[in-house]
Order: sequence, then structure tokens, then C-alpha cells
Amino acid sequence: MSTQSRAVGGTEHNWCRAVVGGTGIAVLAIISSKNPDVSHLKNALHKLQISHPILRSRLHYSPTANSYSFVTSPSPFIQIKYFNHSTTCQILENNQNISPLHLILEHELNKNAWVSSSCTTKHDVFFASVYALPGATRWVLVLRLHAAACDRTTAVSLLRELLTLMAIEEEETGFQQGQKEITMNKGEISLAMEDILPKGIVKKTLWARGVDMLSYSVNSLRFTNLRFKDAKSPRSTQVVRLLINPDDTQKILTGCKARGIKLCGALGAAGLIAAHSSKSRSDHQKKKYGVVTLTDCRSILEPPLSNHHFGFYHSAILNTHAIKGGEKLWELAEKVYTVFTHYKSCNKHLSDMADLNFLMCRAMENPGLTPSASLRTCLISVFEDTVIDESSNQQNQVGVEDYMGCASAHGIAPSIAIFDTIRDGRLDCICVYPSPLHSREQMQELVDNMKCILVDAGKNVADETES
Ligand SMILES: *[C@@H]1O[C@H](CO)[C@@H](O)[C@H](O)[C@H]1NC(C)=O
Repeated sequence: MSTQSRAVGGTEHNWCRAVVGGTGIAVLAIISSKNPDVSHLKNALHKLQISHPILRSRLHYSPTANSYSFVTSPSPFIQIKYFNHSTTCQILENNQNISPLHLILEHELNKNAWVSSSCTTKHDVFFASVYALPGATRWVLVLRLHAAACDRTTAVSLLRELLTLMAIEEEETGFQQGQKEITMNKGEISLAMEDILPKGIVKKTLWARGVDMLSYSVNSLRFTNLRFKDAKSPRSTQVVRLLINPDDTQKILTGCKARGIKLCGALGAAGLIAAHSSKSRSDHQKKKYGVVTLTDCRSILEPPLSNHHFGFYHSAILNTHAIKGGEKLWELAEKVYTVFTHYKSCNKHLSDMADLNFLMCRAMENPGLTPSASLRTCLISVFEDTVIDESSNQQNQVGVEDYMGCASAHGIAPSIAIFDTIRDGRLDCICVYPSPLHSREQMQELVDNMKCILVDAGKNVADETES
């Protein structure tokens, strides 16, 4: 079998550019009470690379053509980095209030393997590390991937497949494994999203392009933002976690269901209300905020892709909302969701993809187009669909206590990017932001406020249904 390659598509190219600037480093951090056996782990990761060609691909950059391509290796090759207790201690130093899992996640979100030095133009897209925690009772396994190879759907499937493979490795003896035949996925990596869009939509793009471009002028980059704490210093990515207990989560979901909307509408609305109240407590001026909703396109592509096709297949819809203060959560949530679905039904997320990519590229090249060169494109981003995870039994089998997953956002990105999961009934959001543009205190306050707004609205639903 020989090496195969394909040029990156438009969206993938954008990620190549964004990751160099610090946005799109996807990290999955898993804390386990079992010391991962390095040879088992390596076997499992190799099996993943064997069945998903993109994971055994490297990104090659050609400076002369200013273009990237995926070059797929015929065989798996991942190395696992191991960090002992004393090295991990240095990373955890002076941060007693934040959990080790959280700190290691942040540490990895800021490890940028893709900043090209002049001599290296080939980069892996998939890295694995194990951190031993002090006390030798727990370990953190981290997978770090380039966004061009890994959207959120990929990360979710990757976690599930890895845990299954790890469980199998644990059960098998080395002898049996030696006897097993592993079948290579000989196929090339899946095509780029732009190459498998439904036919009619591509035509529409060309026809409508001139008109739509007007609606995405650079003014789109001039929405109201959260207060910037420090727009000068170099940035890194930090996260705040928003957890809501199963009882309150259920009430919020009931509220969404009653209005025929998805959770993303409520999350977006809570973000808007919380941001606006942090901004202007006194004046009742309307302010315009941008909300981006990310939607997985796999099911509508031709041919459709399954969740086990790894890569980046999301597109974004950018909506504007004027907020004056005093909005009620459910009314605003309905509005946020309705506007989004209207755009989606017009295939805006597909027809505007090239224009949005173009706009993001312009902003990356000229940060001055964004307020205070902050590189903020909008207030908040949410995913159309929440990840539902009820696999805790399988996770327990391999000792998984907790995990967190998200992508970095200190290059071009929203002020706050929400990665939501409902895990065993509990809403768990990883909220990603650029630091020190925004401070941890500021973001913690904003997220606490969002939580109160959501929980209160959930209680109102309960009151309504009771009366
Ligand atoms: C931990 O790893 C570091 C760096 O590899 C090494 O210098 C150090 O001796 C190790 N410490 C222990 C306790 O093994």
C-alpha cells in the first residue's frame, strides 16, 4: 500500500490558518483511576489510526503554493508522551482551586505543534500523552488533534471507540492479540466537505455569492463584545466549566421541548442575557451581539457520512441579536433558535460557507478589522446538537472518572465557545475563552450568571406545568 494524499478543502484550509493563530487545537482529557498500560494504549491508538486514515495523516504545507494537503501514511505511527509525577506537579503548581484534569486540559490547549518553524512543513494531526498525578492513584490521558482532522462529532466518536478498544485490550492476553488480524482501512481519507455538498447548493453559491457577500462585510466583525480586560498581552486559552444537576437539567430540557426548540437556543439566549447584564447595568441602549451556531453537515452531504467518518464537517451560521435588557429567557431562546433554523432551512450554512471562510481569513490577516485587534468574531458560539453520553458503565470498566473536551480559541474565535454534553442526565458545558483578553473571574461570573438564568427558567417551566 502506498502513501496517499489529497489537498485540503476550503474549510480545512481555514482551520490550518486558524490553528497557527491558536484556534482549533482540539483536546480530549480523560482522568482515570487505572494506570493506562502503555502497550495496551498504544495498540488501541494504532487500531484507531488503522481504521481512520485521517488519524495517520500528516499535514504538509507547501510555502511556494501556500497550500496544505493531507498525506496519509500506510501504517500507524503514534508515539505516546509520558509525564511523571514531578513533571505533572510543575504544571499543576499554585492552582489548588482548579482540578488537575481542568489544568492539564488548559495546558494541552496551549501546546501548539502546528506553528511552523522554517524547516518543518510536515505535522502530525494526532498526539497522545499520559500525565501521572501526584500520589500515583490517578492518571490523565490526553488526545490532542488538529481541527481540520477533528470536529466535535469526531472527538465524541473517538472517545467511544478508544474506550471500547481499551476495554478489549484489557480483556485479551498479549498472545491472543498477536494472533489477531487487523484489517487496514485501505481507503483514502474522506473527501473535503466542499467536494460533497448537495449539487444544487453549490450552484446557488455561485449565483448568490455577490449578493450574500454584502451581508458579511467587515461590519460583521464589529458586534458588541464583552469588556476586554487586557487586549495587549499574548493570549492563551482557558476554560470555565458549567455544571447543572440532573434535576435542573431535566427542567430546562422540558422547557425546550415545550417550545419545540433545542438546547442551543437556551444556551445562546442565556449567554446573551448574561453578557448584556455584565455590560450595561444602567443604560437601556440596545446592543447588537453575534451568535454563531455550529451544525454538523454529515447527514446532508452526497453521499452522507456517518459519525464514524472522522474529519471536520461542521458549518456555521452567524446570527445577530439586538438586546436591550429585561429579556425573558424562553422568549429569547425561541427567537435565537427560530432565526437559526430559518437560515438553515435556506441552506445559508452551506451557501455562505466560502464567504464566511473568506471573511475569517481577512480578519486573521488583519486583526485590526476586529475591535482592539481582539480577533473576536462574535459573542458566543454553540453547537446545534448537544452530545448525549450515557456510557458511564463502559467508562467505569476502564477506570474513567471524568473527562473534558473542547478546542482552543485564543486566535480568531468568539469570546466564549460552548461545548455542551448531557452526561448521565447532567448538563456539562466546557466554556472556552481567550486569556487575558478576558479574565477567569470575568468568565466565571458570566458563566455563573448563565447558570442562574437557565436554572431559574427551568423552575418557571415547572411552575407553569403545575398550575
Ligand atoms: C521525571 O521526568 C523528568 C523529565 O523527563 C526527569 O528529569 C526526572 O528525573 C523524572 N523524575 C522521576 C521522579 O522519575
